[in-house]
Amino acid sequence: MKILVVGSGGREHALVWKLKSSPLVKRIYVAPGNAGIGLMADNVNLKVDDLEGVARFEQKKEIDLTVVGPELPLTLGIVDLFEKRGLRIFGPSKKAAEIEGSKAFAKEFMRKYHIPTASFVVFDDKARALEFAREAAYPLFIKASGLAAGKGAVMAPNAEEAAAVIERMMGEKVFGEAGAKIVIEDRLAGQEVTIMAFTDGKTILPMLSSQDHKQIFDGDQGPNTGGMGAYCPVPYVSDQMMQTIREQILEPAIYGLEKEGRRYKGILYAGLMITPVGPKVIEFNCRFGDPETQVVLPLLKSDLADIFIAIVDGNLNIIEPVWKEGAAVCVVMTSRGYPDKYETGAKITGVRTYRENHAYLFHAGTRHEGNTWYTAGGRVLGVTAVNQDIRSAVKAVYDTMENIHFEGAHFRRDIAYQAMK
Ligand code: AMP
Ligand code: GLY
Repeated sequence: MKILVVGSGGREHALVWKLKSSPLVKRIYVAPGNAGIGLMADNVNLKVDDLEGVARFEQKKEIDLTVVGPELPLTLGIVDLFEKRGLRIFGPSKKAAEIEGSKAFAKEFMRKYHIPTASFVVFDDKARALEFAREAAYPLFIKASGLAAGKGAVMAPNAEEAAAVIERMMGEKVFGEAGAKIVIEDRLAGQEVTIMAFTDGKTILPMLSSQDHKQIFDGDQGPNTGGMGAYCPVPYVSDQMMQTIREQILEPAIYGLEKEGRRYKGILYAGLMITPVGPKVIEFNCRFGDPETQVVLPLLKSDLADIFIAIVDGNLNIIEPVWKEGAAVCVVMTSRGYPDKYETGAKITGVRTYRENHAYLFHAGTRHEGNTWYTAGGRVLGVTAVNQDIRSAVKAVYDTMENIHFEGAHFRRDIAYQAMK
């Protein structure tokens, strides 16, 4: 098979690395990819939102299967376009991807299907939202309904800050049209967990549990980022908890979407809070998580290409994914200044294969020139190590990172602390 992967981050590098190990896969193209991905696949200079360009490339190269990483092309309808042309593609349709593309839709959908989530109100009128904010009990979360690159959710501790956030989203439109509608919801307390599931709309196969670390500094301090690290599996997600998540969240979501005429094929990502009264949904995403994919796929024993084909063909019931024992930990290295304006162009040393620690370097933002690597993004490298348990994987990953340097490099030193109490 010839496969085309759409995307350019650490998630896509992990996808390409895993697909590459499949005997079914002969060649992989990535649009647009990155320098690290270029070591194992052919990068193609196409933007992820150039749906027409990607479709033409797939036809020209006679690609057998296209796999979409990021949410943007999915919410723009890349799957619908490909299917109309008879091209094979892995991911949810535009209508199904609305579960991520519109938080207002997702919340109202959850209410309708009794999926546990924080109680909420939706506003498309600024004056109404401000009026609500004056009277409400705090703290609350205020969220732009549309896509905001993971930056659209803000905690408001009191009415003044809530008013300021509403003004920024609906008045100044800092997220553009994504903030024309907002969701205001209660804050949930507990531990966050990510559960991703493979589904063809009928069969649901949850992957191992994982946990992302969204904040920039140790101890979960500072602003949210695209993800500073992750680990897998999460020890406090028991088999019984997994069963509850399946019955109360995954099944009602997939079957509810089906009922609404939004058949879901691809990956459903459930971002959950494990509260004292059980798991509740913080958000749904319509794709693999990043960096979670960088720890979950290294523990998948089964052939990923096989699973993708079964999903596209609607045959997922024939698949029984097999997982490795042990644990995986990923630590993300970022450029000075990230998540605000950051530096690029710093020389990176130590980019090589680290077999001795069972470590993988997944590239997110690097550039390669001659024999030298340079930083080229806010998130630069995801260093993942697999070992027999979380503790030894943490040690292996930080040992590996002793060898990797660039000016202004930042990373958290406490990834997976929740699992080592
Ligand atoms: P979201 O964009 O909805 O995923 O929110 C980003 C992050 O904000 C989440 O990963 C949580 O850490 C936090 N968050 C969002 N909504 C809530 C909530 N209702 N209660 C507590 N934390 C939340
Ligand atoms: N790790 C969070 C996300 O992928 O949205």
